[in-house]
Parts: sequence; C-alpha cells; structure tokens
Amino acid sequence: MNAMTAMTADLVIRNGKVVSPDAVIEASIAIKDGRILAIGADSAMPPAKEVFDAAGMHILPGAIDDHVHFRDPGYPHKEDWESGTAAAAFGGVTCVFDMPNTIPPTADGDILAAKHAIAASKAHIDFGLYGLLGDENLATVPELLDGGIIGFKLYMGNTFGKIASPDTGATLELFEVAAASGKRVSLHAENNDIMERRQKRLMAAGIHDQFAHLAARPPVVAIEAVSRAAILAEWTGARIHVLHISSADELRPLREAKARGVDITGETCPHYLMLSTDDYTRVPGVIAVNPPVRESRNQEPIWRALIDGAIDVIATDHAPHAPEEKTRNDIWTVDCGFPGVETQMPLMLTEVNAGRMSISAYVRMSAYNPARIWGLYPRKGALLPGSDADIAIVDLGREHTIRDADIQSRSKISPWDGRKVKGLPIHTIVRGRFVMKDRKLMDTKGWGQSVHKIQQMPKPQVRNAEHTMQAITAQRSAGRREQIA
Ligand code: NCD
Ligand code: ZN
Ligand code: ZN
Repeated sequence: MNAMTAMTADLVIRNGKVVSPDAVIEASIAIKDGRILAIGADSAMPPAKEVFDAAGMHILPGAIDDHVHFRDPGYPHKEDWESGTAAAAFGGVTCVFDMPNTIPPTADGDILAAKHAIAASKAHIDFGLYGLLGDENLATVPELLDGGIIGFKLYMGNTFGKIASPDTGATLELFEVAAASGKRVSLHAENNDIMERRQKRLMAAGIHDQFAHLAARPPVVAIEAVSRAAILAEWTGARIHVLHISSADELRPLREAKARGVDITGETCPHYLMLSTDDYTRVPGVIAVNPPVRESRNQEPIWRALIDGAIDVIATDHAPHAPEEKTRNDIWTVDCGFPGVETQMPLMLTEVNAGRMSISAYVRMSAYNPARIWGLYPRKGALLPGSDADIAIVDLGREHTIRDADIQSRSKISPWDGRKVKGLPIHTIVRGRFVMKDRKLMDTKGWGQSVHKIQQMPKPQVRNAEHTMQAITAQRSAGRREQIA
C-alpha cells in the first residue's frame, strides 16, 4: 500500500464557506473514518471516495442542543428517539442532550442503561443523557455516574413530569455530590414555593386563563432561584447551567455570579428572543411553556446577554406534546412546552440575515460554547482536524415557511406555524455520514452514539469540602470508632 491510498478520504466537501466562532473562510473539508482529516485549499485535499459540492453554502459545526425532551421511554404519542432525532437532523442539530423527565425518570443505573439502549437503537444523531439529581435518588447518583451521563438535571421548580423539587437543604447536599463528580448540573431555575402558592390561590379563585400561568410565575421566581443556586454552587464548587432564561431580571444574578467566578453558564431559547405576550392570543395554550414567554421588554436584554456572552448557549427546550394536550381551555390542564429542535437553526439564521449577529457568533452559541461547557470540545462543536465530522450545510439565502404539518417531530403543534424564515440547513452530517440530505432523512436510524464516552470535564473544583454531609458523617463515624477502641 502506498502513501497515497492510505490518505484517501471518505468524503471531501468542496467550495463551501467554513464557519468558525471567529471567522468564515473558503475552504474544503476532507473527512475520513468519521473525523475531519484536513481543512484547507481545495488543491491541498487528498483524493476522496466521494466529493460533495457545497458551492454557495455555509458549512457549520452541527448544533449541539443541550436541552431536549424526546419522551422515550414513556410518551410515544408525543415523541420518541427516532422522531426526535429525525427532527434534530432536519434542524442541523448533530447532538442533543435528553432530559430525565421520562417514565420512569432517569434516576438510577438500570433506567439509564435502558434509556441508553433505546436511544442507541433509534437515534439518527449523537446524544447525551441527563441523570436526575433529586431528593429521592441521592443514593443512586454513583450508579448514574458509572452508567455514563452527560450531566445532571435538578428541578428547582415544578414543570411537566411533576418531578419533586428538592428543598434548599437537599439541593445543597445534591450540589455537594455533583461538585465532587465534576459534572455540570442543569437547572430548571424557578422557585417552587412561590409558583405553587400562586397557582393554588389562582385556581381557588377560579382563574384559569393563560395569563394566570404567567402570573403564577413572575420573574422573581427565576431571580430567586438563579441567585440561590449561584450561592450554593459558589459554596460547593458545583458547576451549574441555568436553563431556559426567560426574563431580563434573572440576568443580573447570572452576571454577578459569573463576575464572582462561579462556574455558572446560561441558556436561552428562540421563543424567549422572538415571541412575547403579544403572541398569546394568536396561539393560546400552544405558547404555554415553563418558564413562560414574557412581555416583549425582556427580549432586548436577553439578546444582548446572548451576544455579549453572559448567556452561553442557544438551545431549544424541545418539549413536544399532542395537539389535544395543548389546546384545553383550562390553562392549568395544558401541557407546557412545544417542539423546537428542528426550527432553532432556521429561526436564528433568519436573525443572522437580518444583521442581528454574525454567523460566527451564532456558531459560538449553538456549537462551540455547548461543546466547551459540557466537556466535548474539540471532538464536538468544532471543525478542526481530528474533530468528529458533525456538520450542518446551510443555505443562508433559502426562504422557507415553517409549517407544523411538515415538521418531523411527532408533535405537530407549535407557535412557529406560518413563520417565515431565511436560512435553512439543507444537509446534516454526523460523524462523516449524511443523516439528512437535500431535506430528506437518510436511512441512519441507530447511527447515533452516546457522547459521554468522549466527555472530558475539567477536574472537579470542590469547595468547603470539610462542611459536606459526607465529610461530617465520615468524621463522626471515625470518632465513634475511636471511642469504642
Ligand atoms: C418541559 C417538558 O415538557 O418536559 N416543559 C416546558 O414547559 N418547558 C419541562 C421543562 O423544561 O421545564
Ligand atoms: Zn425546565
Ligand atoms: Zn425542558
């Protein structure tokens, strides 16, 4: 075998504009064995088994959506791993992290193993699984770590799936355990006591319109929860990630905690940037989500935070439900959330086209930052030699109208129906293989892999170790042993 045949690439993508977090360059990309072999001038590319012409297209690292609910196992009428990852593939998303509010919740080693098996058998794209960090499963946290999770999820406030919210004492102890593991904890950061009390009072008063849902969850629920979580993270050294930032007000405790050096990151979703209470009467019930879409004055500050980096990640909180579950008259019985994994990229590219931000800034929040904060960089979230060839090939000039009936998600109901976008992923590649090509799904069911195997979080940075419950109880039992001897 001569050197030339050894260097034959599986695929060379020619003529595209390659987007990194800092620059857009005209380059070709050679791919071999699922990884990027070379990026550079077309004349420098090795021979390839397949050449793909991407003239006029932008080549982006596939989006990493760190917040989806694929409902499998548990709610096959809402979504499953096959339909959810098909939706992701159509959205230029090459990796998702799935939340633990499935049935049963992802709270122990056996359930995690079962979910890994289901996902591996059906997924078109790569995935990570969250393990639940709850008051009832403190004892099974080691099993979750052994089984391979991308991170933890802690529900500070109630939401779909009705997973009990740990009180502050339990949260501190759970953060202690999380800190020692080095894994990041994603937070549904809304104060449970305030929301439950308000909801109960509103229900008792017979108020059940959709604005009552908003009234039960004023921004203070998020301000309080983000602030408290930041203090507990600062004390324990736990790494935390604030999900679905919905209000201008919660940005203050986020920014302050970052300034103090707390390992805290933030995420928002297109609906908090592009929708507001002005849309409530247009899509009643459908728009209901936790935390709620708020008054339009919140949009600008959230945009600013996303662009200046206070918010690190754009994700979707893809939360599919059936139409019947979204259109009930009593808001308290409506299932909260809607699909989004498929529409995030076109919605955000539309904003790129409108001049809201550069396409490099978009890549930073959709791929580079999530890869870094979850320990996957540079295998994921980058187009560099050696990186996994996870790629979204997008046509920035393509105009498209989002139609609920056309989306891949099993949940054909969203507040985006009828929305016009400009900028569309046309092909999606996962580890060198097309999973979506020319807006058609490929025969790639089961191609997806769990990314926890390549995850490398920085070393844990435990603080106040001597005050942890584990340290205290270990000290006490050592003391008792001395007394007995
Ligand atoms: C999510 C769901 O349906 O699982 N719903 C939502 O309104 N966001 C749960 C969550 O993310 O809070
Ligand atoms: Zn949530
Ligand atoms: Zn969610």
